[in-house]
Amino acid sequence: MKADKDLYRELRELPALELWQVHVPRFDQLSPKERGQQVALVRAVGVVFADSRNPEMKAAVKQWMKGLLQDPNEKIRRYAAAAIPKLGGDAEAEKQLLNLLKDPQSEREKKQAASALEKIGGQETLQAVQKMGEKLVSEQKVRASVARQEGPSSIKVDAPIPKIPGLKIHLRCRTGLESIVADEVREGESRQGKFRVLELRAACVVVEPLASFTLAELYRYRCFDTASFVLGAILQPTAATAIGELAKMIASPLTEKLVQSLTEGAWRYRLSFLSEGNHEAAVAQVTEAAFALNPRLLNDARQSPWSVDVFFNKDRGAVELRPRLNPNPRLYYRTQAVKAASHPPLAACLARVAGKLANEVVWDPFCGSGLELIEAALFGKVGQVIGTDIDPAAVAMAQANFQAAQLTSTTGSFHAADFREYAKFPELARGRVSLVISNPPLGRKVRVPNMHGMFADLFKAASDVLRPGGRLVFINPLRLESTDPSLRRELRRSVDLGGYECRLEIYRKY
Ligand SMILES: C[S@@+](CC[C@H](N)C(=O)[O-])C[C@H]1O[C@@H](n2cnc3c(N)ncnc32)[C@H](O)[C@@H]1O
Repeated sequence: MKADKDLYRELRELPALELWQVHVPRFDQLSPKERGQQVALVRAVGVVFADSRNPEMKAAVKQWMKGLLQDPNEKIRRYAAAAIPKLGGDAEAEKQLLNLLKDPQSEREKKQAASALEKIGGQETLQAVQKMGEKLVSEQKVRASVARQEGPSSIKVDAPIPKIPGLKIHLRCRTGLESIVADEVREGESRQGKFRVLELRAACVVVEPLASFTLAELYRYRCFDTASFVLGAILQPTAATAIGELAKMIASPLTEKLVQSLTEGAWRYRLSFLSEGNHEAAVAQVTEAAFALNPRLLNDARQSPWSVDVFFNKDRGAVELRPRLNPNPRLYYRTQAVKAASHPPLAACLARVAGKLANEVVWDPFCGSGLELIEAALFGKVGQVIGTDIDPAAVAMAQANFQAAQLTSTTGSFHAADFREYAKFPELARGRVSLVISNPPLGRKVRVPNMHGMFADLFKAASDVLRPGGRLVFINPLRLESTDPSLRRELRRSVDLGGYECRLEIYRKY
């Protein structure tokens, strides 16, 4: 007999249909002893069908799984209890799990039933929990589950946030892009007058709201990555003493005011400690303590509209409340993305540092799904964008995204081609382009056999197509300069692309 783990690994690699049509009927025919030996199948079916896009088959699988909650074998019942939340709970499953909880055969079975009820429990579980002497099931988790069943929660981007004295916002970004983020806000605020830049820190720009505002107003800025409200700072965030402090910040009147102003639906949040290591126990302690202080705020890792992030900086931590905007209003145009798609705020930063000339003609030689071109056009004064990419699927995505962006004063053309073939396209005739902008393959997600050769060719192509005064703005993963004397470097700045240090560079054509 194969060990449980090996069998599980083997089974979960099988196609869903084969599992359901061959292995499940075979399992159902086995003797009780053999079924016990093959219990890994129950786990594999739960995992494989968790992401199934076939609702009818998923419903049939769930029905089978609910049947297993009454199996004479304790281990099979336990595995089925673990699988049910992945397939989606319902009233019948809840009842059966409550029965297991009342009359378990083992401590492990009791725990498994409790854990499943925390994820799918409804009103009946909530009533049972309130009557329970023993704290087996977290009331907070069940309340969150009930709230989720009542309807999704979301962030209201157009709701006014009242003026709160002392409120600070952290605009987070990649290290190296802080001044671009700050400049965008400063420039916009010379007209809008709602926010003031207070300070630039590593990967963070601190902003103060000067008046009542909406998130839609803040999200007009495109260069920052995430925006969060500062709840406070904490010394030694992992120390035992921090638990109570963090809980107080989460449960505070400030959190409540922000969440109340901006949430449609139940007030649910997830807590993340943004540092290496396993913080599961601390998360559980902090969130339970916060619930005891303010039971209106529910910790819930699933589809919650808010995140509380604890950032670590040596022995200090910043505690931030971040609205999770879904859909992200800035990405209204993104219908599809390539595997190595640019981080959208990085594309916006590239567009912004490029500056704008009148009636720009912009080429992205490695356009992927087209973010740099679209961000350049949104930044303004772009008459035409041209994208080339060696991958036809990427070109189709760029085209679809460009259309979705509805840029009425910009025309776009996209070609499936190696960028070195630029001379084939009349739009890329010598001296016709004013801006070459790109987040090229960096050699990580998109492998390139000869990176140095490719970047040397990029400099040559840019020098050919750019008109005098035109710019090449791109991310350079190599320490490689243009040897073409007509291209002069104006900027080189290190940017941390998620642990990969690259340079943002600007060359001008003379
Ligand atoms: C980092 S991705 C670009 C991502 C893009 N900025 C976006 O937002 O989706 C790099 C792209 O370069 C393309 N590529 C690789 N070698 C190429 C070549 N020789 N000519 C043109 N495109 C190439 C890849 O197909 C990939 O889509």
